[in-house]
Amino acid sequence: MLARNALTRDRYSMYNTNKLKIGLFGSNCSSGRAVTKVPERWTGSWPDNLRLARMADEAGIDFLLPIGRWKGYGGDTDYQGATLETITWAAGLLASTKRITVFGTVHAPLFNPVIAAKEMVTADHIGEGRFGLNIVVGWNEDEFEMFGVEQREHEDRYDYAQEWIDVIKLIWSDQEDFDFQRKYFNMKGIRGKPKPFAGTRPLMMNAGSSATGQAFAIRNCEAFFLQASRVSLDETAQRVSGVQLLARQSGREIGCYTVGVITCRPTRKEAEDYYHYSVVEHADWSAVDGILALKNISPQTVPMQEYVEKRSQYAQGMGGLPIVGDPDFVAQQLADLSKAGLTGIGVSLVNYAQELPFICDEVLPRLARMGIRESQAGQ
Ligand SMILES: Cc1cc2nc3c(=O)[nH]c(=O)nc-3n(C[C@H](O)[C@H](O)[C@H](O)COP(=O)(O)O)c2cc1C
Repeated sequence: MLARNALTRDRYSMYNTNKLKIGLFGSNCSSGRAVTKVPERWTGSWPDNLRLARMADEAGIDFLLPIGRWKGYGGDTDYQGATLETITWAAGLLASTKRITVFGTVHAPLFNPVIAAKEMVTADHIGEGRFGLNIVVGWNEDEFEMFGVEQREHEDRYDYAQEWIDVIKLIWSDQEDFDFQRKYFNMKGIRGKPKPFAGTRPLMMNAGSSATGQAFAIRNCEAFFLQASRVSLDETAQRVSGVQLLARQSGREIGCYTVGVITCRPTRKEAEDYYHYSVVEHADWSAVDGILALKNISPQTVPMQEYVEKRSQYAQGMGGLPIVGDPDFVAQQLADLSKAGLTGIGVSLVNYAQELPFICDEVLPRLARMGIRESQAGQ
C-alpha cells in the first residue's frame, strides 16, 4: 500500500486547500446531464471538451468527471447518444492542461484489468499524476447486452470489482511476474510497467448508492459520491458523517462528494426563467421516460406522485441537486454544502463552456471571500 503522502504528493488540484472542490461532471456526453431540447444544449464534441477543459484548468476548477456511457437513451435528442470514451478522453485532456485532475470512469466488468491498468498508467504519465479513476460496476442492463456481457447479480458485481481493483493495485505496486488466482480471475505471470507517475497511484472514487457500493468505496477509494438531501442540510450532514464514521471504524479516511446542477444568472429571476425554459418547457420528455423505464419507474410501478417527482428530477440533471439563482445564492448554497461536511461537488451545466465563465467570475471569488476556496489570480 502506498503511503498517503506519496499518493497525494503530486495531485495538486485534488489536494489543494480548497475546502470545497468543484468539478464538472458529464461533459464527455452529448447533452451533458440536462435532458433538454434547447438548441444550445451541450454537444459533447471533442473541440468543445478541449475548450472547456482549458478554461476550467485556468480558472482553478479542481476536476473533470466523465460518464461511462456506451449507448444513448433515445428520445428526440438521443440523449447522451454520442459519448467520448473516458480514458482516451482523459488522456487527451491531461495532455492539454496543467493542474486539473481528470477522471476516467471505468466499467470493471468490461475492461480486462491488465489493459485498464496500463491505459490508466499511460494517462497518468501524460498528466504527470493527475489521472483519477471512477470505478463503476454497471448500471444499465441494455449497455451490457451490447457487449455480450451478462450483468451479474448486484452483490456479485462488487465482489468482481474487488478482485479487479486488487489486481490493478498489485500491477501498480512493485510486484513483478506474479500470479493472481481468485474466484473470477486466473492470471499468470502478470507484469505491468511503467508504474503510475512518480511513485504515486491515481486517486480513486466510487459512487455506489447501495450499502455494498458504499462499503466498496470505503475499502478502496479516497472519494465517495453520495446524494445530497433535497430536504435539509442537516440530512446531508448526517449522510456525510455516517459514511465518515464507517470509514474511520475501518481505519480509513474518505472524502464525500455530491452532484449538483447549477443554473446561475445575474438575477434570481433570470436563473429561474432559464431553468424553467430548459428543463421544464423544453425537456426531452421522451428521453426522460426512456431513462425511467430502464430503471423500472413508471406509473404502474411507483405511486403517481413519486413518478411525477422522478420525471422532473431526471429532466433537470439526472437526479443531481438543483442550485438555481444569482451568484450570491449559488455561492451560499455551495458554502452550506461545505459546512455540511462535503469535500466537493461535481456540477453540470446546460452548456458548460457558455456558462462556466460567469460562475468562475462571480461565484468562485465569493467562495474565496467566504474562506471556502483559494483565490485565483486576478480575483
Ligand atoms: C457521480 C456519479 C457518477 C456515476 N457515474 C456512472 C457512470 O459513469 N457509469 C455508470 O454506469 N454508472 C455511474 N454511476 C452509477 C454508480 O456507479 C452506481 O452504480 C449507482 O449509484 C448504483 O449504486 P449501486 O451500484 O451501489 O447499486 C454514477 C453515479 C454517480 C452518483
